[in-house]
Amino acid sequence: MDTLKPERLPVHLAVIMDGNGRWAKKRMLRRIVGHRKGVETVRVIVEECSRLGIKYLTLFAFSAENWLRPKTEVKALMALLKKYVRMEVARMMQNNIRFNVIGNRADLPDDINAEIEAAIAKTAGNTGMLLTLALSYGGRQEIVMAARKMALEAVAGRLAPEQIDERLFTASLYTADIPDPDLLIRSSGEMRISNFLLWQLAYAELYFTDVDWPDFDRNELARAFRDYQSRERRFGMTSDQLRK
Ligand code: FPP
Repeated sequence: MDTLKPERLPVHLAVIMDGNGRWAKKRMLRRIVGHRKGVETVRVIVEECSRLGIKYLTLFAFSAENWLRPKTEVKALMALLKKYVRMEVARMMQNNIRFNVIGNRADLPDDINAEIEAAIAKTAGNTGMLLTLALSYGGRQEIVMAARKMALEAVAGRLAPEQIDERLFTASLYTADIPDPDLLIRSSGEMRISNFLLWQLAYAELYFTDVDWPDFDRNELARAFRDYQSRERRFGMTSDQLRK
């Protein structure tokens, strides 16, 4: 088995953590048990990515469409989230991890926003991996948000239409200071992007695994990284051009 080449690891890993509910169902357990187990997996993968020197890790923890779920599940997920953010700050400090959130924070309960603010402030000085949770996040909503921002600047006469280019668009997104993901991992067998980082994933490598998120571990992560390292990323160019 090929060993992982540290110099060829993704700078930015994005993850759609799917399959908590199905994992629980297969075991005749309530969905919330799957989410709880899913949080344990988050801990393991965050620590492992930090240990491997991944610079940016972005986790799809709650989508804009997840609000449509049964109220009891939304409430339970929010409670898990609050506990996670509060409990993990100490571990983030130990691992020199900086915490960040993208998404429409106005949708989140005040007490969760307060925990998030505290965690962001506490870890702001850390210089290791940037851990970003996507919360109440939707790629289309983010693009509309960016377009509105630029339109307001244009209406105020501070921006001419011809100044709107990819660079300005990228700078208008939640992820303005984060490089595009190199690799997207989705667990649990579904092969779709589910409105995640639509602009940013333009040239990301996609890796789908049948393993449910609660069962995703260091070995599965290493398997994904080995697959990623075996790929040739051409960004629209030819292989010959890459070799020059
Ligand atoms: C999808 O599984 C997963 C989510 C809705 C979000 C992921 C949430 C967690 C891992 C727990 C909370 C996260 C943090 C960071 C505290 P699903 O419920 O859609 O599973 P299914 O597709 O099998 O129904």
